Formats: sequence, C-alpha cells, structure tokens
Amino acid sequence: MNNEQKVTNEIKAPNKDLVNLRKDFPQCFDKDGNFQLEKFTLNLNEKEINFSTESYGLDWLGKSYARLLASDPATTLLKADEAHNKKDENKSSKNLLIKGDNLEVLKHLANAYYEEVKMIYIDPPYNTGSDGFVYNDDRKFTVKELQQLIGIDEEKAKRILAFTQSKSNSHSAWLTFLYPRLYLAKQLLKDEGVIFISIDDNEVAQLRLLMDEVFGEENFVGKFIWRKKEGGGQTDEFFVREHEYILVYRKSGEFVWKDEEIINSDTSFNKTDALGKYKAVKLAKWGTGARKEDRPTMYFSIKDPDNKNTFPIAPDGNPGRWRVGKTRMQNIIDNGLIHWEKKNGDYIPYEKIYYSEGDVKVIKDRSIIFDETSNTDGANALTELFGIKDIFENPKPTQLIQFLIRNNTEKEDVILDFFAGSGSTGHSVFSQNQVDSNNRKFILIQLPELINPQKKKITYDFVKDELKAEPSIFEITKERLIRAASKITKENKDYKGDLGFKIFETTPIWENYDFEVDKLDTQTKLFNESKLTDEDIKALLITWKTYDGIALTQDLETIVLGSYTAYYGNGKLYLMNKGFTTDNLKTLLEKIDSDKKFNPTSIITFGYHFDSKHLRELSENVKQYSNKKNIDIDFITRF
Ligand SMILES: C[S@@+](CC[C@H](N)C(=O)[O-])C[C@H]1O[C@@H](n2cnc3c(N)ncnc32)[C@H](O)[C@@H]1O
Repeated sequence: MNNEQKVTNEIKAPNKDLVNLRKDFPQCFDKDGNFQLEKFTLNLNEKEINFSTESYGLDWLGKSYARLLASDPATTLLKADEAHNKKDENKSSKNLLIKGDNLEVLKHLANAYYEEVKMIYIDPPYNTGSDGFVYNDDRKFTVKELQQLIGIDEEKAKRILAFTQSKSNSHSAWLTFLYPRLYLAKQLLKDEGVIFISIDDNEVAQLRLLMDEVFGEENFVGKFIWRKKEGGGQTDEFFVREHEYILVYRKSGEFVWKDEEIINSDTSFNKTDALGKYKAVKLAKWGTGARKEDRPTMYFSIKDPDNKNTFPIAPDGNPGRWRVGKTRMQNIIDNGLIHWEKKNGDYIPYEKIYYSEGDVKVIKDRSIIFDETSNTDGANALTELFGIKDIFENPKPTQLIQFLIRNNTEKEDVILDFFAGSGSTGHSVFSQNQVDSNNRKFILIQLPELINPQKKKITYDFVKDELKAEPSIFEITKERLIRAASKITKENKDYKGDLGFKIFETTPIWENYDFEVDKLDTQTKLFNESKLTDEDIKALLITWKTYDGIALTQDLETIVLGSYTAYYGNGKLYLMNKGFTTDNLKTLLEKIDSDKKFNPTSIITFGYHFDSKHLRELSENVKQYSNKKNIDIDFITRF
C-alpha cells in the first residue's frame, strides 16, 4: 500500500500514556477514538482503589504552555559532524554529544531512545539571579493560536506570551523552562532508571513539587546534601552556605540502589584482631586529587603509636591529604579503627574495614556527601586539562558524578546529561569505565550558548584563538571530552575502552518546507526541492532514521542499486536521492530475492525526489512483488 507521511514538520514525542490507555482500556474509547472518562471511572474497581480527595499540587502561570511545549513538534532536523565522526577514535564510538537546545534534541531522541536510558544526571541553571538564566523561547504564537491550542482565555494567553517574551527569570519562567524537558526526559528512562538533579536553595522547593508532578511522589528516592565547599563565603548574608542538593527520583518501583558490597571471597580481608577479620584501606588519598593543594583542609596530623605527628603523603612523595575529613578521622580514631603499618621507619595509617558474618557485607551510602569531593576538585580537573584557570563556572567534580554512576549503572548502560556544560558527565563515564572495565555509554546535549567576551574573556579568547571556533560553550564541552580521553589514554596505555564520541547538531527546518499532500499531484509544489543540497538530504535521512527508532550511533548501510544509491538499516530502506529508474527498481527486487541479509519491511521514499508516475510504478511493483512472495513490505512516501 502507498502510505503518505508528513514527518519533517511533525517530529514529537509519542504520547505513550495514550497508547497504554488504549491498549489496557479499549472499552473506554468510542468508535471515533474519543476517550470516555465516565466509563473509565466505572471500570475501575472502586473497592480496591483509594481516590484521593486532596486537591494538592503545583500551579504556575505558564503551566499549560509548558505542557504544549512538551507535545509541540520539533522545529529542527539533526545533522552529523562528519569530519569529527569519521576520525579513528570516533567512528565506532557509541557515545554522543549533541549540539542544540535540549528541548529540540529530546524530541528527536523520543523514539530511538525510548526507555533506553538507565541514568540521567543534570545540573540545570539554578536560577540564582546571577547565573544568567532567563526564559528564552523562539516559538511565535499569537494570542488567538495560544487560546485555541491550550484552551485558555484571552487574558491568560496575553499574560503567558508576555512572560515568555520578556526574558524573565521568575519561578514561573524557570518552571516553564524545565517542565517540558523533564517530561520528555522521563520517557527516555528505563523502568529501572533513575534521575539525579543538582540544585540549590533558589529552586529546590519548586523542583521537588515539579518532580512529584512529573515522576510521581511515590518515585521520590531521596535528596542528597552535598557539601560543595569548605571555607570562604564571608559575603553570605546570614551564614555560609556550604551545600547544595541532588534530588533523586526513580522511574518506577523497578529501580534498585546498588550499595557497595564486600563479598566473602574478597581475599583482602587478610588481617585479624580481637574483633575479627578485617581489611586495611589506606587513609591517605590516592589517585587524582591526592595532593595537599587539592584539599588543604584535609591535610592535618594525627598521632602515631609513638605519639608522633603523622601527615598524609601523596603518591609522588609530596605532602598529600587524607581520604576523610577531621570529624570522620576522629571517629575512626575513637573507635579504634586504625591499623598502623611501619614502613621504612615511619608509621602509615590504614582504616580497618571489618568483614561481617553472612555472605555479603553491605556498606550503605549516606544522604550527606561530606568529605569526598568539592567544587574545587571540579575546577582543578578543568585547570589540569586546559592549562587555564576558570575556563568554566562551577564544573561538577567527576568524583561526585562517578559516585552516582558507580552505584546505578554497569555494562552497556546509557547515561544522559542534557545540560552538559563542561562535559563532566562524559568525562566521568570515560573514567568510571576505565576503573571498573564496564562499557557504559553517554549522551550529552549542550546548547551552543555564546560566551560573553565581557564576562568570560579567557574562555572567549581560548575558543576563538586556540580552537578557532565560534566562541560557544559547546566547544568547551567538546574539547574537554577530547582532552579527558587523551589523558586517560596517556595514563593507561593498554586501555582499549571507547574513548571517542560522535557529534550531531540540530539545524532549523528550511523555510517554507510545507506542503499539502493532496495538492502534490496537481503540481502545486509549495516547496521548491531544487533548493536542497546533498547536505540537506543527509540531514533529512538522519532525522528520519532517528524518528524511525534507529540509534544515532548506528550508521545506515549504503545499498547500491545499479546507478542509484539507497540506505538501509533495521528493515528500513530509504530512497532519498533523485533519479530512481525502472532499472533500479528491477535491481532492487532482485536484491531482495537473492540477498538473504537484505529484508526491507518498509521502503521509504522522499516524495519531492520522485514524480508521481514513478511513485505509482514503484508502489504497484512493490505491492505485486510482496503479494507474490507473500511478504509484507510497507511502501511509504514521506515529506
Ligand atoms: C550549570 S551548567 C552545567 C555544568 C556541568 N554539570 C558541568 O559540570 O560542567 C548548565 C549548562 O546547561 C546549558 N544549557 C542551558 N540551557 C540549555 C538548553 N536549553 N539546552 C541545552 N543546554 C542548555 C548551559 O549552557 C550550561 O552550560
């Protein structure tokens, strides 16, 4: 059958709630597909369901508009950065960095990555008043359109449009910005999936209620308090704010938090004292960030068995830092949990970790992330990679993100960050995979937000002069990932993990790309296809294949049909180019016949590149062929 599809201007997230409702309650829909709420209520067994009588929730100006943004079609296409993607380190990489507004990108990912993501970490603008957050929206609705689209009165439509166009940073503006993005992101999470959101006091109350609404209150897992700095803050008005939060919501009850487990067979429990078997874990920090300068407050002395002061030593022999802060150290000392070993005349302290009865000892994580890492670690990591200080404001430490990754993902799990910033999440995935030999993949999304030369001259000059690129934050994200990968390679020469990534970006749909299918046959072409370049056709192909559920990292196979080139993947054959002839059709049918690995279940043609005579011929031949062979091949003409 010949099926006409308008896709390019219609890319949006599928409403799976409706699909599920239809599947489970078909009796509640009338013959025209309208949902009958009364029937639905009657269908529920009222004895088993407690109806909430409490009408409680979060409301703000713009909420209905925010819902519209979540369901509104994308206004862009996706295209590949071919030069980057074909480099050796990237060509078979399964990691992704996507340049664009995350609202657009999440819509593009809605099919291909539906329920594919195990963990989301985001660090959105906190709306501090000085972090530059303002509501930005290039969708242009008239008052009338808005009234119709979301069913509100004229007065409210005017107020919503006024605030969406006034560069506001009110709570309403922030909520309107975040709601559709969270709504779309939730659809990408697996049932066992989890989302972590960094936030501070400015919006934590709003975010909690917003997340209750989007994810459901019963899916609130908890809230970490992370001590992000020590010292400083003398300009804070009342008391020094040392912490911020990480909100944690799960997608469903399928989620489990993986505690650190020490298993019986762990041979490092090779010491014994009156309390039993234990292992000794060094108290001086090792690995990265182990120098005194990294955490000056974690450089202090403790008394050794000879009552002499002992200071932490870094792996390079210089002054180092402890793994724990003063309070925890005192606790360890008071509880007799230090194991001393004498090396070259000096005492070295270790923490005793006891082996417990039973098969497994579980060490539960705590809701306060206290001594492990701070903003300074985040900044130091960037300074080390770029050789320049303060290239990016408050990057999150990879140690913090790795802690979340370690406990929630493994193997080939996909980790998404749609406010990528300096790319800390990508760096953390690279590092954690190297440490524990897993093969997790990341998807990062970052807006090409322009760097203001007045506010961030160092960064602006670096991108312009050294990277020779348009000075946008995206370039920092990209460069950070490249430098992090090369550092890991240098430090671990034999490491063979995936340290590459592919780049895609959004690009606006061409002006006037609009049509009315029924008028096409009468030659009323509303869009002049001759304007489309090879690059444009490639963008269409990438956008459509993603819409059809094919991952961005999966390349389509090039199929040569005589003089014509087609593209194939996951049972879908794309005929995008001009010049398809009857001979090419013959070659195509012969190939289906003879090539056992080539079994297209859909043939998708780009309507503007086929005239109606050819299209009819093609579709009839495919139909005859599939009838004869008793196979199903959908023939789709797409615009
Ligand atoms: C607080 S920063 C994230 C920092 C990051 N966690 C790190 O460690 O570097 C938020 C980032 O989101 C980006 N951003 C803001 N709005 C965006 C949007 N609509 N789409 C994609 N990125 C956006 C900003 O450019 C900024 O880089």
